[in-house]
Amino acid sequence: MIAFLAWFLSQYIGDRAAYIHIGALIGTCMAANVFTTIIPSQKALIGAIERGESPDPIYGLNAKRRSTHNNYATIPVLFIMLSNHSPMTYGHEYGWAILTALIVIGAWARHFFNLRHKGIVKPSILITAVLAFVVLVLIARPQPMAQMEVGEAQLTDNQAFAIVMERCATCHSRSPTDDIFVVSPGGVFLESGTDILRLLDRIEARSILTHDMPFLNKTEMTLEERALLADWIKRTKG
Ligand code: HEC
Repeated sequence: MIAFLAWFLSQYIGDRAAYIHIGALIGTCMAANVFTTIIPSQKALIGAIERGESPDPIYGLNAKRRSTHNNYATIPVLFIMLSNHSPMTYGHEYGWAILTALIVIGAWARHFFNLRHKGIVKPSILITAVLAFVVLVLIARPQPMAQMEVGEAQLTDNQAFAIVMERCATCHSRSPTDDIFVVSPGGVFLESGTDILRLLDRIEARSILTHDMPFLNKTEMTLEERALLADWIKRTKG
């Protein structure tokens, strides 16, 4: 169900937002487990003991089942809470599939610790979880931009600055002109050559290796500009 919802949401809202929505969904289920089942079961148990009756085992079983569900959801939810810092995951073409895989791997890794808690140690679970994670990272890792024929069209420094300023400075400036971001997000300024040269690595990470900036491509940076900029950054970094 979560895989379907992740895919479904990513058709209508940005993948970055889809991740957070899935996290909110799982988090809401976890909270609901606590308030609708775990706490009421405990109250019923205590009530029965206070009345001197032997408590109905169903309460204990229900509470246990819901805490187990919550337990498996913790690693995935923790990751999703931080996911907006990982454009490599949500920024991937199949971001929803990466999310689903991460949820499964997170729960699988948790399974190892849950079994160990019961005295059963199965290293194979942890090893396969780590292996699956490494494979996923290899699949999702940012690919160098397909070598676009830049040929004669190499950018001069000033041309490169102009592209970055046009596409980025509406938000990333000391006085942004964007209608939503009235303060530069992340305190990142990209409105002069000095600013840009200082942040070459970050510009490369966010707009070349991943295409996560400009935010939602609001300023409509083209693929050609990214390719030209990639070439310029490579030459500039030397
Ligand atoms: C429409 C507004 C907008 C535009 C245009 C924009 N950004 Fe951003 N930028 C954001 C927001 C919002 C954040 C904070 C959230 C985040 O880090 O993902 C951010 C954060 C950043 C950061 C800080 C986080 C980090 O990775 O170090 C960098 C660097 C960055 N943007 C680079 C760029 C570049 C390069 C461009 C142009 C190619 C650009 N941005 C265009 C909105 C924008």
